[in-house]
Amino acid sequence: MIRKASALVLGLGLIASVALADEERVSFPANYKTTFENYVSLDRVQNHDQIIRLFANDIAIEAAKEGRELPNGSVLVGEVYKAKKDPDGKVATSALGRRVRDKLAAVAVMEKGEGWGDNFPDGLKNGDWDFAIFKPSGERLNKDLNTCRSCHAPMAKTQHLFSLEHLAQ
Ligand code: HEC
Repeated sequence: MIRKASALVLGLGLIASVALADEERVSFPANYKTTFENYVSLDRVQNHDQIIRLFANDIAIEAAKEGRELPNGSVLVGEVYKAKKDPDGKVATSALGRRVRDKLAAVAVMEKGEGWGDNFPDGLKNGDWDFAIFKPSGERLNKDLNTCRSCHAPMAKTQHLFSLEHLAQ
């Protein structure tokens, strides 16, 4: 009985640690500011008070330009900024009709790895891409990554990316 219980504890511990390892397989690309290309910056499409600057590593950019499927090792970074607000709390608009960057709020990352999509059900599966989000300092933010997965999953025609055309330009 005791042995069974401890086997159960051991088993649960193993499942928990596997799940954790999976959740943390995308790490913070510490050098993205110097080694990645900032391929597009824009007012976020689905968030009215944010701005995003998108970066990609060479592996991703080369493949996109050649019209190939992005290979494992591709990494994309979205720097999410708060937009500046008017004194009355409304999102300010510049003379160009655009939002103006305030503080860097978070760094969102997509990375592709061998077999990373294997265990996801339809609706959460993004090929072999997976997701993570960090504070600007690189500290991991504890967010539900299934929200990322379920919003990017329908974009199968563009490799689960919203900005493929900008990457390929
Ligand atoms: C409600 C939909 C939605 C959710 C949820 C979402 N994204 Fe996105 N994501 C977008 C859109 C739309 C873009 C295009 C740029 C923009 O407007 O922000 C994008 C762009 C990106 C990009 C640049 C590559 C690309 O697809 O163009 C990365 C990296 C990214 N998101 C990571 C994440 C991460 C990490 C999370 C979860 C913490 C997440 N996203 C959650 C909609 C979403």
